[in-house]
Amino acid sequence: MADIKTPHIPVMLSEVLSSLAPKDGEIYVDATFGNGGYTEAILKSADCKVIAIDRDPNVIKRAEELKSVYKDHFEFRAGQFSDIYSLINQPINGAVFDIGVSSMQLDQSERGFSFSKDAPLDMRMSCSGLSAYDIVNDTEEKELADIIYKYGEERKSRQIAAKIAAYRKTKPIETTKELAEIIYTVLHKTPNAIDPATRTFQALRIAVNNELNELEQGLNGALKLLKSDGRMVVVTFHSLEDRIVKTFFKEHTGKNMHVSRYMPEPVNTGDADFASCSKALMPSQKELDENKRARSAKLRFAVKK
Ligand SMILES: C[S@@+](CC[C@H](N)C(=O)[O-])C[C@H]1O[C@@H](n2cnc3c(N)ncnc32)[C@H](O)[C@@H]1O
Repeated sequence: MADIKTPHIPVMLSEVLSSLAPKDGEIYVDATFGNGGYTEAILKSADCKVIAIDRDPNVIKRAEELKSVYKDHFEFRAGQFSDIYSLINQPINGAVFDIGVSSMQLDQSERGFSFSKDAPLDMRMSCSGLSAYDIVNDTEEKELADIIYKYGEERKSRQIAAKIAAYRKTKPIETTKELAEIIYTVLHKTPNAIDPATRTFQALRIAVNNELNELEQGLNGALKLLKSDGRMVVVTFHSLEDRIVKTFFKEHTGKNMHVSRYMPEPVNTGDADFASCSKALMPSQKELDENKRARSAKLRFAVKK
């Protein structure tokens, strides 16, 4: 494992704590353990228990450190949060999701999450299964274009997929830099603008880790585990994720998102699971000044009936 340069700074931590409102004697799930920033803050804020999940085997050492301090108040379960229902298998008072990759994952350049350094095309959070290499080299051109369009919201997806398909006829695309250079033949870099390869790399990461399905299944599983008055708190980092959370919360609060324009107010259907859901909360200016990673964060929470 590579050296970890920047410890992960928990994003919107004070908002997470006030939304989750931990209480003594209660049980919470941290579905995205990472560096344990949320877990530790929850454990410090009340005499409660946290069960944490993560799919990345590299976090186990940190989980063991917390276990030695918090003993019976902390448990770690390795796995994907789409399996939260079977991994946890007991009623809980709250669940928190901090979607996306951690600073540790980005900093381990050999894992290929960041294309600022040349690295093998990997991007697997769980270090197993299909990698970005497999997707880039083996996916049929049309399907690859769809992935780049859908998960990267990249308008030039077809041209990029065509260039990838042409290149890989000569040799497999092996590294992040190699792929970025192919993308730059379609989208040119401009100084001070966001790197044009970013959207394609985002798309591949989402596809490799099946991130949007994970999120939908994770939310559904957590809802089934939550006790009455239990809280679900979700922090997301891009619009595709936020849309899933917003729709899920509204639908389960009995607010129909697709109401007629003659009836613009959300209708409460009466059989809702949540008593209420919040609007999107954003990081404070202070946090934005101190942590670049918080820039695109949005937090939403809902309270079970
Ligand atoms: C943004 S980090 C969480 C950081 C954490 N809140 C903290 O304060 O240290 C996200 C973590 O969630 C994990 N993760 C992402 N998707 C996952 C999934 N579907 N199942 C389990 N873990 C996942 C990643 O491996 C990563 O460690």
